Amino acid sequence: MNSEMKKDLMSIDDLTDMLPDLVNWAIAFKNDTEMAPEFKPLTGMTIGSIYEKPSTRTRVSFEVGVGKLGGQPLTLLSKDIQIGKSESIADTAAVLSRFLDGITYRCFAHADVQELAQHASVPVINALSDMHHPCQAAADLMTIVENKNNINGHIAWVGDGNNVLHDLLLAGVAFGYDVKYATPVGMEPNSEVIKRAEKIAARSGAKITATNNPNEAVSGAGVIYTDIFVSMGEEHMEDKFTAFDGFQVNEELVANADSNYLFMHCLPAHRGEEVTDGVIDSKNSVVFDQAENRMWAQMSILTYLCNPIAWQAYDDLI
Ligand code: CP
Ligand code: NVA
Repeated sequence: MNSEMKKDLMSIDDLTDMLPDLVNWAIAFKNDTEMAPEFKPLTGMTIGSIYEKPSTRTRVSFEVGVGKLGGQPLTLLSKDIQIGKSESIADTAAVLSRFLDGITYRCFAHADVQELAQHASVPVINALSDMHHPCQAAADLMTIVENKNNINGHIAWVGDGNNVLHDLLLAGVAFGYDVKYATPVGMEPNSEVIKRAEKIAARSGAKITATNNPNEAVSGAGVIYTDIFVSMGEEHMEDKFTAFDGFQVNEELVANADSNYLFMHCLPAHRGEEVTDGVIDSKNSVVFDQAENRMWAQMSILTYLCNPIAWQAYDDLI
């Protein structure tokens, strides 16, 4: 691939115009038992994944997904490599670009994945930063589209104004869903992300509503989404936890949602904190579909970024 032409995925709005097609491709591929198992667009390619934080879903879904597409996954735990210790991000990007055909990076500071992308000549995918989690949003919208006929109402977020909310908001309004988010005072999402989401919403006709009242967000919702209250890297902010009194997604809170509402969570869940067993284990919960869809959505994105001709060839067949 010509490095001048390469595309990166830092936040889900990097793909706004393509997102519906990427999601439809992922759904078709997931359900295609004939052509998809033979489709190997990453043959001869190696995709490296750097992790500064723990991961279950992201790591396994990238490793298995790359393998299914004929490629070789290479997982690099940051504690084992030189990045950020005796080698700069820029030099790491240049070196890895000589070996790899794509890089995924889970990091603390969003500026670090941007720096890696700037200095890499191969596509770079943000596998979660403190600001964005685009792969999660792609899987979440895939899960919503799979269930769209049962969704009557807006997407409600109850919890922290964090990385997962940022990309859910950007992606949700791109698909035309109204989004109402309830966060504690002082934990609202990043204002610059909100501005970007407002611009996308102005084009799609979706509405964004901010509140500090979980009941207001959840009333009439077709989707209720929450996440852990204290994200990775914030463990020192234990006092943050107390701000979430009244923000647990429990049976009482969901009673005012649409009866067919989907319960969503990026996982891992802290059961008994942000969500009760009764909600996460209910018939409304699609959390394990979301987890599985990480793989299918990322397979679509990886093929699109690393072998766009093959992505288009499969898209033409579906
Ligand atoms: N949702 C998610 O990114 O999970 P992991 O931290 O296990 O990768
Ligand atoms: N907001 C969480 C998401 C984990 C998948 C975190 O950043 O830790």
